[in-house]
Amino acid sequence: MQVMSDAASQGHIQKWWKEQIVYQIYPRSFKDSNGDGVGDLSGIIDKLDYIKSLGVTSVWINPIYASPNDDNGYDISDYRAIMPEFGTMADFDELLEGLHARGIKFIMDLVVNHSSDEHEWFKQSRSSRDNPYRDYYHWWPAEKGKPNWRWSYFDERGDAWKYDEQTDSYYLHYFAVKQPDLNWENPKVRQEVYDIMHFWAQKGVDGFRLDAFQFVSKDTDFPQLPEEYMEGKQQIIKYHGMGPNIHPYLREMYDEVLSKYDVFAVSEGAGSTFQDAHDLVDTHRNELQIAYHFEGAELGKNVDNPHTLLEFKQLYSAWDESFSSDGWLSIFLANHDMSRMVSRWGNDSEEYREVSTKLLNTFLLTMRGTPFTYFGDELGMTNIRFQTIEEYKDIDAINGYKKAQADGADMDTFMRNLIEYSRDNSRTPMQWDASPQAGFTTGEPWINVHANHSVINVEAQETDPHSPLNHFRELTALRQQHKVLVYGDYDLLLPEHEDIYAYTRYLDDESMLVLMNFSAITHTVHIPQLQAHTKVLVNNTTECVIEGDVITLTPYQAVVLG
Ligand code: NOJ
Ligand code: CA
Repeated sequence: MQVMSDAASQGHIQKWWKEQIVYQIYPRSFKDSNGDGVGDLSGIIDKLDYIKSLGVTSVWINPIYASPNDDNGYDISDYRAIMPEFGTMADFDELLEGLHARGIKFIMDLVVNHSSDEHEWFKQSRSSRDNPYRDYYHWWPAEKGKPNWRWSYFDERGDAWKYDEQTDSYYLHYFAVKQPDLNWENPKVRQEVYDIMHFWAQKGVDGFRLDAFQFVSKDTDFPQLPEEYMEGKQQIIKYHGMGPNIHPYLREMYDEVLSKYDVFAVSEGAGSTFQDAHDLVDTHRNELQIAYHFEGAELGKNVDNPHTLLEFKQLYSAWDESFSSDGWLSIFLANHDMSRMVSRWGNDSEEYREVSTKLLNTFLLTMRGTPFTYFGDELGMTNIRFQTIEEYKDIDAINGYKKAQADGADMDTFMRNLIEYSRDNSRTPMQWDASPQAGFTTGEPWINVHANHSVINVEAQETDPHSPLNHFRELTALRQQHKVLVYGDYDLLLPEHEDIYAYTRYLDDESMLVLMNFSAITHTVHIPQLQAHTKVLVNNTTECVIEGDVITLTPYQAVVLG
C-alpha cells in the first residue's frame, strides 16, 4: 500500500476504487437486443466497445435480478437469478467477462433493505405467524392496535404499514407495498445477505452499491415519532434509519464478506450529517468505502425555488473540506432517481445545451471523489418532461400523484415539479442514432424515446470532434493521466462570485486550475493563479482568451489549465 507524501492530502491512501470513473447503466433503457422494447444484457454486451471508448473504468448497472418490476428491479424475488427480460446467467457471465477483458470493473447493485413480496422468504413469512421465515420481515400483530405511523416513499397514502389479513398483522414497507423491509435484527437475514454477496463476489464482481442501506437499522419498537420527523429528507433518514445497529452490521458485513475479496462498497445515502457519512466510510472503521450522499441531489429541487450557483459551490466545497483527509465520496450530478444532468444543473436550450453539458462534465471529472456518470449524460440527453400523468411509468410518480390528490395538494404545483424532477426523465432510452426509436429497439420501447434523438445521438456526436461525447472522452483521459484530479487538494477561488465556479487542485508539484462560467453572460475575471497555469488542457469552446491574470469566460465556458 502506497501512502501519499505529506505535502499531498494527508490521509488519502491510494486505492484503485478511488481512481475509478463509473458509468451507470439503467439496463431497461440502454440497448434492446431482441426487439421486445426492453433493454437487456445482450444489448449491453453489444455496446462494450462504446463503453470502453468513453474512458470510464467501472460500470454500475441497476438491479438485474429476478423481479416482478413493481419498482423496475428494486423489488427482488430471487437474488441469485437474472430477470428473464434481461437475459440469463450465461449472459451475465459473458458481460462480466467482456468488461474485465476490457479492463473495466463491475459494480453490482445490492438491494437488501427490502425484497419483493414475491420473494420466497416473504411468501413463507406471510403464510403463518409461526413460520420459520416469519422474523425475516417486520410484522406487527393487529391485536396490539395500529402501529405508529411510518413514512413510505412509494405508498399511495405514504403509509409504510400494510395490513395483511392472512395473519391479521401489519408488515412494514418503507418503499412500495410490494417491497417489504427485511428484518436485519435477525442474524439469519444477515447471513442470507452475506451468502448472496459471496455468490456474486465469487463470480468476480468488483464492487457493491448498497441500495437504501441507511434504513436497515431502525428502532424496531416503532415508537411514536416527534412532529419534526417529516421536515425534509434528512429528518426522514434520522427517524427511519441510521439506527443504533447500522455500524455493527456494516462491520460484520466487512468481516464476513468485503474483507475477503478485492472489492469495495458504496452506500446509497450517507445519513444526515458529515459525521454520519464519515462513520460509514472512514478508513479505520472498516465498514464501507465510498459515501454517496444526497445533499447535492436534493439542492433546490423545487421549480419555484431553484438553487443558486453560490449554494452549489458552498455545498460541494463543504463536503470536500470535510473529506479532505479521511473518508471518500462519490461525485454525481444525475442518476436513475434524478432528472437529466443538463436539464437540472445546466441549460438545456438549443443554444446552450452542448456547451453546458460539457461544463457539467468538466466539474464532474475534475472534483475529488469517485465520479459517477449516468448513461446519456456524455451526450447531453435532456428531460423528456411528460406533460400528463398517464404518460408516467414510475411508481413514485403514479402513487405520488394519487397521494397529492388525496391530500388536496395544489395539483398544478405538483405537476410542474413532476415534469421537471420525475425519475422518468432519466429513464428514457439511450439515443444511439436518429432512426425512429433512436437505435434503442426495433420494437415498441417500454418508455417513449425523446423526440430530440434526431439531433442528440451517439452517431452524430462520434464524428464531431467538438461534441459533448468527444469532450467527455478528453476529460476521462485527463483524469486517468493525472492523479492530481483524483487525490489532489481542492481550493475554492472567487467564493462570492455568483456565476463563476473556480478552483485549483494540487498534489505534490502538480496543480490544475478549473474555471467554469455557469451563466449565459460573458464574464471577465482576474485570477492570480492564471500566472502559474498557462497551458489549456481542456476547453469546451473553440477559444480561450487570457491576458496575464485576466480571463474572459463566454457563456458556459469551462476550461482546465495546467
Ligand atoms: C433507491 C433506488 O435508487 C431507487 O431507484 C429505488 O426506488 C429505491 N432505492 C428503493 O429500492
Ligand atoms: Ca430486450
